[in-house]
Amino acid sequence: MEAKTVRESQVVMSQLMQPGDVNFYGTVHGGTILRMADHVAYVAACRHAGPPCVTVAVDSVSFHEPIYIGEVVTMLASVNHVGNTSMEIGIKVLAENLETHTVRHTNSCYYIFVALDKNGKPRPVPRLIPETEEEKRRYHDAEMRRELRKRYREEVERLKTASA
Ligand SMILES: CC(C)(COP(=O)(O)OP(=O)(O)OC[C@H]1O[C@@H](n2cnc3c(N)ncnc32)[C@H](O)[C@@H]1OP(=O)(O)O)[C@@H](O)C(=O)NCCC(=O)NCCS
Repeated sequence: MEAKTVRESQVVMSQLMQPGDVNFYGTVHGGTILRMADHVAYVAACRHAGPPCVTVAVDSVSFHEPIYIGEVVTMLASVNHVGNTSMEIGIKVLAENLETHTVRHTNSCYYIFVALDKNGKPRPVPRLIPETEEEKRRYHDAEMRRELRKRYREEVERLKTASA
């Protein structure tokens, strides 16, 4: 399996926010953003490892600012790190006001995807080659998050066993 650069799987996706995307408060629904992020992360994961890939976890979702109807949401997705069968995809969300031409960074989040074989079991993914300083920093940070997620899952299991 040939290693791939980060650049080979990067994705940019834009969508106009429409009245159907609104929540009860009148701003864009968080679910709209998460659905779009899942799609863009899926494309990056499949460009890196080939389909099928599935979401196994979503991490560190934060909504810094509201997004409004009529704004253009652009998602930038990159594979930050790969394990054996899983990949962390980092997503940066930008909202553009078409009237003022201002662009705001409204969200960031991490999606973990697993590549599956024809039996629905995890399959190995290609190694990742971070080239730029920024890609190397993201790779390093993602490696720490991967370790923290693993420890968190192990601790949950330990507490469940202890309380059983
Ligand atoms: C994806 C799936 C097949 C993985 O099965 P599994 O038994 O957890 O497999 P493993 O324990 O071997 O883990 C596979 C990889 O996922 C990672 N992983 C599993 N659970 C994780 C979690 N909660 N967070 C982060 N990574 C996780 C593991 O670390 C491992 O990575 P690695 O191979 O790079 O080291 C299974 O969880 C599944 O089918 N989930 C549903 C997926 C789906 O339908 N998603 C759509 C949204 S509903």
